Amino acid sequence: MQRRDFLRNIGIAAAGAAISSPLLSAANAEPLKSLDLPIRPLGAKTDRQISVIIVGCGNRGSVYARYAEKFPAAMKVVGVADPQDHRRNRLGDKHGVPDEMRFADFKDLFATGKKLADAVVIATADHLHYEPCMAALGLGYDILLEKPVAPTAKECKAIRDKANKTGRIVAVCHVLRYAPYFIALHEVLRSGVIGDIVSIQHMEPIRYEHMAHSYVRGIWRNSDTSTPIILAKSCHDLDILRWLIDKPCKTASADGGLYYFKEENAPKDAPAYCTQPCPHAATCPYNAVTIYTKQKRHLGVFDLDGKRDPELIMSRLKDPNYDKYARCVFHCDNNQPDHYVANLLFEDGVTASFTMDAFTPEGGRRTRIMGTLGYIEGDMKEFRVWNFLSSTPEIWNKKVSEIPEYADAGHGGGDLGLVRDFVEAVAAHDPGKLSSDINVSMESHLMGFACERSRRSGRKEKV
Ligand SMILES: NC(=O)c1ccc[n+]([C@@H]2O[C@H](COP(=O)([O-])OP(=O)(O)OC[C@H]3O[C@@H](n4cnc5c(N)ncnc54)[C@H](O)[C@@H]3O)[C@@H](O)[C@H]2O)c1
Repeated sequence: MQRRDFLRNIGIAAAGAAISSPLLSAANAEPLKSLDLPIRPLGAKTDRQISVIIVGCGNRGSVYARYAEKFPAAMKVVGVADPQDHRRNRLGDKHGVPDEMRFADFKDLFATGKKLADAVVIATADHLHYEPCMAALGLGYDILLEKPVAPTAKECKAIRDKANKTGRIVAVCHVLRYAPYFIALHEVLRSGVIGDIVSIQHMEPIRYEHMAHSYVRGIWRNSDTSTPIILAKSCHDLDILRWLIDKPCKTASADGGLYYFKEENAPKDAPAYCTQPCPHAATCPYNAVTIYTKQKRHLGVFDLDGKRDPELIMSRLKDPNYDKYARCVFHCDNNQPDHYVANLLFEDGVTASFTMDAFTPEGGRRTRIMGTLGYIEGDMKEFRVWNFLSSTPEIWNKKVSEIPEYADAGHGGGDLGLVRDFVEAVAAHDPGKLSSDINVSMESHLMGFACERSRRSGRKEKV
């Protein structure tokens, strides 16, 4: 689409958006023009219901299963697999799954040797994607596969090859591609309004306590037992860069490491667990008791079934099944970098610089895009588009969370937008309905593996 068509199609409205953003310095007295790009509803356009089995009934498995509660005519959960009884039964009960379709292990599900549904959702930990995915492809299932695809490039390629050989759909959960914010950003770029993209700066602020929870104490703390953080946390970002730039990435050079969360930085007399008396409890922003019982953050891992009382949370922090989350951040078996920078070179000399940082008070990816005819700056809540010939930037600032059906859809609405497109793709046997098919998603994974090789070797690496 040419720029003038784009401007006509989006029907620019002078909305008088008196929005201020800490990101954007252009204090403009004029009202900004709103980019009125429509947001697609979440209901799938399909003439049949698809059936799915949820493999891994933890956080992500439950998130995707919610689509069936909201849109029962489009998707039904007919099976569940998880070794943790309460998780398996919680989801099974919610969806009326019969006992014979509740499996304690994905191995039992696939050992039946039968295809028991249209699709499986694989939402197990990173190192448990490859085996169930290959087994499911062997039995002819379509698959919604959590990212990262697998911890090694070899396994990722094997999954891609098997998907292509069997002709099954493997949709990778690069949920940001399905968030209205990124869809709008992508559409604006494709309109040509800022000309050719020449370079991008992109930052992923993790948030200090999210870093502590997931990448110091939690299940992604060690790259040897999960995946390097550039994939575990940032494959979304590499994927978005690849998608926005729309050209192959050639080389990557990366630096970064673990600066803070290590034994040598432990303050004097800090005990192994924050639930023990600690002289630094009141002054440490990473104190587990504060984060979980007072700030009430990241409670999903404690299986509280919606309860939030501090005593119960405290008892979980002392329970051997959960007490890894009570560990002092300086006494963990973690090795994931807490800061990471990568320079990426794309075809035609287009460049992108990416930084991932633990030490930030807020999340929300920040992106600046430099084009031959204009510039875009955004923070995942809004973005502004400058065309160099116009005196006033345009703004996209839809409050997605205020649209009732999107209200509880995480990742800016992307979580359920992904499931909608997956349902449509499976119902129609058409992977073209997805923007994160395995063949596309492989590329950003290979970018991540190249970044990690470079960070370790100190050399620029080919992708
Ligand atoms: N797309 C995203 O934005 C996003 C966000 C967070 C996590 N993830 C990814 O999603 C995946 C799951 O993360 P999570 O936070 O839901 O983890 P989780 O620990 O909450 O859930 C994983 C579940 O898998 C179960 N499980 C373990 N072994 C199993 C087996 N043999 N058979 C069946 N189930 C088994 C566990 O008991 C657990 O309940 C990870 O790969 C993670 O990296 C993706």
